[in-house]
Amino acid sequence: MARKRVNPRSKDLPPAKRIQPARAARNRPQNPTSTPTLAPEKQDEFFHYTNSEDIIPREINNFIFNPADWEDITRPVGFLPKSKWPPQSADVLLKANKHDGPCVGRRCWEQDYCDDKKLTCGHTLEEWIQGTEGWKELFELRQTENRGIGVFTKTAWGNGDILGWMNGVLKPDTEDAPTNNYCLNVPIGRLEAKEDRQAYAIIDPLEQGNWVRFVNHDCKPLTKFGAMRVGKTRLVVIEAIKKISPGVELTVNYGNSYFASGRTCLCGREKCISTRKS
Ligand SMILES: C[S@@+](CC[C@H](N)C(=O)[O-])C[C@H]1O[C@@H](n2cnc3c(N)ncnc32)[C@H](O)[C@@H]1O
Ligand SMILES: [Zn+2]
Ligand SMILES: [Zn+2]
Repeated sequence: MARKRVNPRSKDLPPAKRIQPARAARNRPQNPTSTPTLAPEKQDEFFHYTNSEDIIPREINNFIFNPADWEDITRPVGFLPKSKWPPQSADVLLKANKHDGPCVGRRCWEQDYCDDKKLTCGHTLEEWIQGTEGWKELFELRQTENRGIGVFTKTAWGNGDILGWMNGVLKPDTEDAPTNNYCLNVPIGRLEAKEDRQAYAIIDPLEQGNWVRFVNHDCKPLTKFGAMRVGKTRLVVIEAIKKISPGVELTVNYGNSYFASGRTCLCGREKCISTRKS
């Protein structure tokens, strides 16, 4: 079953666009009554629900890494020469290098991208995790009509804004790797221009993950996934590719291969991938 892939290079890398400080404050809805009232009374209960698997996901905001999962995995060609294999931590597995995209800075939402090119800025994953804990002020989970749970904005966003990051359990990309509907690939080692040469790890948020796992597909999406970094650690982030209003559903394109294996897209667009196929 195809997994959603993040193209690590060139056009899919977020541009080094500067985000104005205090964005979170600017984005607060001016008129709170315009916020739709469909939100569930208790959002938390949605983390105990999933539409496609009988598993109860736990809300986390970190990577889960188990060194034992990597013991028997062959070192990927292109894994950074100075890094130890098998990796003993998520930091080593996801180590960025000078060819990576820009650093997201200290916090999501309200900071400028960091100008550092040499990976010496000192921004850390720990700071990023703390900075992204308050996601519920900005997004909410709601039941959609036909695609299970979705993520809805509470505030406005600009094109190029980084809205969040994908986390979960880090697993090797092997033949018998997990194939559930939530997995996403994160590039590891050297970034290759050609996807078939790129080594990947899998972020599996099925049992443990954050709100980004609930972003549904749309053939005309509002966001995209991209590879960026915070300091020396590579991340998969979700980036706005248009201006986004408060109260709309965040969507992303899962890629053609996701729908190649018998899945039907229910986005309802005129040029929907599933309508085109039939
Ligand atoms: C990454 S999950 C998104 C969150 C999911 N809606 C939930 O409730 O857990 C992907 C799953 O959501 C549903 N989904 C997302 N976008 C869809 C679309 N455009 N058409 C049909 N189903 C979709 C499918 O069940 C898919 O396997
Ligand atoms: Zn930085
Ligand atoms: Zn569609």
